Amino acid sequence: MYEIKKLNKISAKIEEVFNSNYQLGEEFTNPDGILVRSAQMAEYEVNDKLVAIARAGAGVNNIPVERMAESGVVVFNTPGANANAVKELVICGLFIASRDIIGGSNWINTVTENTAKTAEKGKSQFAGTEIFGKTLGVIGLGAIGRLVADAAVNLGMNVIGYDPFLPDASKLNSKVKVASFDEVVKNADYITIHVPYIESTKNLINSNVINSMKDGVIILNMARGEIVNVDDLKAAIETGKVRKYVVDFPSENVINSKNIIVLPHLGASTEEAEDNCAVMAGKQLVDYIENGNIVNSVNYPRLVKERVAGKKRTCVLFKASDLSKIESIKNAVVATKGNFGYAIVDDDNYINVDFAIKTRNI
Ligand code: MLT
Repeated sequence: MYEIKKLNKISAKIEEVFNSNYQLGEEFTNPDGILVRSAQMAEYEVNDKLVAIARAGAGVNNIPVERMAESGVVVFNTPGANANAVKELVICGLFIASRDIIGGSNWINTVTENTAKTAEKGKSQFAGTEIFGKTLGVIGLGAIGRLVADAAVNLGMNVIGYDPFLPDASKLNSKVKVASFDEVVKNADYITIHVPYIESTKNLINSNVINSMKDGVIILNMARGEIVNVDDLKAAIETGKVRKYVVDFPSENVINSKNIIVLPHLGASTEEAEDNCAVMAGKQLVDYIENGNIVNSVNYPRLVKERVAGKKRTCVLFKASDLSKIESIKNAVVATKGNFGYAIVDDDNYINVDFAIKTRNI
């Protein structure tokens, strides 16, 4: 019986993924797998049996992925599973930043007499601009960025996008112009950020970058708060360089601030996205536990192999510096990612690998 620990509330759909060989719960002290959404795992001590953590979501900044790799724990995420939900919120962000829809609605609810007449008299204070014909810069053209780009094209925007590792340009709407980071930043009326929060993207949007933007630019951040330097951004709002900032990551330094629209991390909070993420995360755990297949891992390479009837499978997690040693093992199918590597060996017998971080016989 495999024990899967839930560190957060996960969509009930997850139950459909696990058969009677699995138990799901919150109390296990030595689980085989973990399902997590936003629970902070920085201090999590790896238990003996733990082989994998699956995050029901895209961002993994709440999980110490490198430390987990060193302990032989594969960390999965669910890229794309909530992309449509985030895309829809970005499109909403374009509108609420362009026109004071939120301010107008709040105001009209305070008017208790002559409502219609007062509305007509006072509404000009909430007027705004249209997105049609404007230029949207998309930073990061992964699952979410691509959907946003496509939707914006269909709304009549000119779209330019930047991605240092464009995964599959063929999935991009042909009207999207791929450009350098500098070009995107310089030419966009609206900039939307869709890169993960990692060391190199911390404060990616800082005063230097903001200075090269168009005057009156609108910035949307549904990726992670830390990617934008808030002090620099607020200074740019004061001078009018930045017209509005829409951010889905609340913190003390953004709430109740001039021309900043803060949302309570609603990007992936739709029924559909929560179901999709839960099912994808659960399936990845099952496929790894039972077959050793790795698809969307952030700390180990992708490696998928059909089971061979009658053969025993040894899964080997190793340091990439041991690559040549593992390549000399008969029948080993091998892949590496960064400092770590993974091999599947189907043979008549399980094999011993004394230099491995972890081996599993399945
Ligand atoms: C993500 O990382 O997938 C989104 O920000 C939503 C979430 O954190 O669950």
